[in-house]
Amino acid sequence: MSERKDSAIRCFETAHGLPCWVLEMRDSAYVLGVDENGLIQHLYWGAKLGLDSDYGNPAAFPGRSDRPEGISNEEFLVWGGLSYTEHCLKASFKDGVRATSLLYDRAEIDNASVHPSLTIFFNDAHYELSVRLRYVVVSECNLVVRNTVLVNTGNNPIDLERTMSATWRFPLRDGYTLRTLNGEWSAEFQIQESPVVVGKQVIERRTGSRGHDAQPWFGLHLPGTSETSGELWFGALAYSGNFQLILERTANNQVSLTGGISDFDFGWRLGPGESFETPAFVGGHTTKGYEEASRSLHEYEIAHVLPSRFAREVRPVLYNSWYVTEFDVNVANQSDAADRAGQLGVELFVMDDGWFGRRNHDRAGLGDWYVNPEKFPEGLGPLIDHVKSLGMSFGLWVEPEMVNPDSDLYRAHPDWVYHFPNRTRSESRNQLVLNLSRRDVRDFVFDFMHRLLGEHDISFIKWDMNRPFSEPGWPDAPEGRDREIWVRHTEGVYSILTQLREAHPEVLFESCSGGGARVDLGIMSRTDQFWMSDNTDPVDQLFMTEGFTLAYAPLARMAWVTDAPYAGNRVPPLEFRFHAAMLGAFGLGGNLPSWSQEEMEQAAQLIDRYKAVRRTIQHGRFYRLLSPRAGQLSAFQFVNQDRRESVLFLFLLGSRYHTHRQWVNLRGLESEARYLVRDGDAPSEEVGGQALMVRGLFVEIEGDYVSRLICIERVPQ
Ligand code: GLA
Repeated sequence: MSERKDSAIRCFETAHGLPCWVLEMRDSAYVLGVDENGLIQHLYWGAKLGLDSDYGNPAAFPGRSDRPEGISNEEFLVWGGLSYTEHCLKASFKDGVRATSLLYDRAEIDNASVHPSLTIFFNDAHYELSVRLRYVVVSECNLVVRNTVLVNTGNNPIDLERTMSATWRFPLRDGYTLRTLNGEWSAEFQIQESPVVVGKQVIERRTGSRGHDAQPWFGLHLPGTSETSGELWFGALAYSGNFQLILERTANNQVSLTGGISDFDFGWRLGPGESFETPAFVGGHTTKGYEEASRSLHEYEIAHVLPSRFAREVRPVLYNSWYVTEFDVNVANQSDAADRAGQLGVELFVMDDGWFGRRNHDRAGLGDWYVNPEKFPEGLGPLIDHVKSLGMSFGLWVEPEMVNPDSDLYRAHPDWVYHFPNRTRSESRNQLVLNLSRRDVRDFVFDFMHRLLGEHDISFIKWDMNRPFSEPGWPDAPEGRDREIWVRHTEGVYSILTQLREAHPEVLFESCSGGGARVDLGIMSRTDQFWMSDNTDPVDQLFMTEGFTLAYAPLARMAWVTDAPYAGNRVPPLEFRFHAAMLGAFGLGGNLPSWSQEEMEQAAQLIDRYKAVRRTIQHGRFYRLLSPRAGQLSAFQFVNQDRRESVLFLFLLGSRYHTHRQWVNLRGLESEARYLVRDGDAPSEEVGGQALMVRGLFVEIEGDYVSRLICIERVPQ
């Protein structure tokens, strides 16, 4: 074999002469091989081993006809023959045959690219369908990125009924726990753990694109795994439409996870010469606990997923008046809010919903993307000029995929929404979903956005999406293609965003969906940040940030400080609210004209403080030191890449009986170095890195909703 021993991807032959591939990353290895029936068997995914021959032998697996039902170790199981566990592909052919039978053809290894890749080619034994399995290795992050390309090489259409991106297989061991991120509106990113029992657990979205309840992310760990140690496998699907992650444990204890585009109501007609590419499914393995898993994803996202224009930059501090003015925006109240925001050091002023059409409430106007003449008689120009004269840039809210029935757009084009004849068009938030599967509708959306960005000096777009799909019909669809809407809509959003970014490269985009209902690696490659949640209560923000950062980089997490109480009767002090919002990208949404002089001064100081350390927060390494789920005191730490600077946030929800006293062990510092610990105005203290990590930092803190932002700086040698 031609690959060198130290190549990231190598092929070796077993004693039976069967090819196997070793995908080696910094600490882990992923291994697969062809068996004598031409099936690709998964051999290994775990810590790197010394010898290639230690990774196993594909000949050890029983052929399909010899094995009991429910057993498979195939990398890409197709439906057909004696296969009953979750499969990746189900296709039907023109003559009515619904089974697929793939034969291994060849493999190509590319070790020369930045990210080495392996592509395995299969052909159907009879029909003109070829399949490529692609594996890309991101060595420094210990990640394998898998996806599949299906190509119709013949002259007849092939109907795809299921096209999953990958099945991940896990070692035969006992005691797995599945970790997922679930939630609801205003309570996104809740961490849930469940034992893996015989049967299936499905994490799924059927709403089209919006999903507070299910995140396309998973963690699967062995007993004893914690934040900082223990073995786990994890993955994230880069997709914003309907998806499924199906965890399956068979009666004989095989555990696998199959994921990709959901096959619920799905259909795709693969025409002659056409190809279909599934979304990427990123998978990782570590023996160092959830913190390391998150770090792998954070680093991967910043280096390879987030649009490169802003990926290495810091996110601006923004202000948005939504919670104050709602739909009642006008040139006067927005200018006043901008004056106050400017005094605080805000860098980006964003106007939310209500500026267009007859949008005085959520019952009308969506779809009519002209500036409302009563609210802005001279257009947006004077407001934008005012904002810019205050030294801020200007941003705007849009919800391009939607329409209110009470709009000029809908009156002119009632057929532009998803609908079924003879069925009610169900409204949610008084709106319907535009059919982006249609070319003319996609063009309409691109054109108005392109015009908006071309005619105004806009630096930021908050792209919202506020309802799930219903009656997902496309009556004028080309024959056999009406069920493609689930995928075509998502592709439509992706392609419009891609085109807009090309035409307006200086615009920063935020993905919003009634809070954080569209957060995933798919939309992340077209937008720069996410609105985490409509819930701005700082205590709830701590819990959501913990969940969010399991999968996504803090850089991409936008949260605001608003007026309190937001939820319940809690009114935590301003400082606590600021600190909670600072755990990532930061914004403000309070009624600033009602803030006292003292509050304004404190806010300005806190924003200054944030700006001084935000590069470390947004681009440093992130440590969840003490979980808010575990006790009254939670702690989050950021360390910059060269370990020179660290920022520690402490949040005490409430102290009982006495002052809360606790050693908090820091992480990620240099053992040998000395650090200066600065806790607000208290005299700074010099402590060794090792002491801060091994013994910890002694914390004495008292009261309800008390927080600290502590800076830790390396003392120059
Ligand atoms: C959604 C968003 C909010 C706000 C409103 C405007 O609910 O999550 O932040 O933009 O829409 O209608």
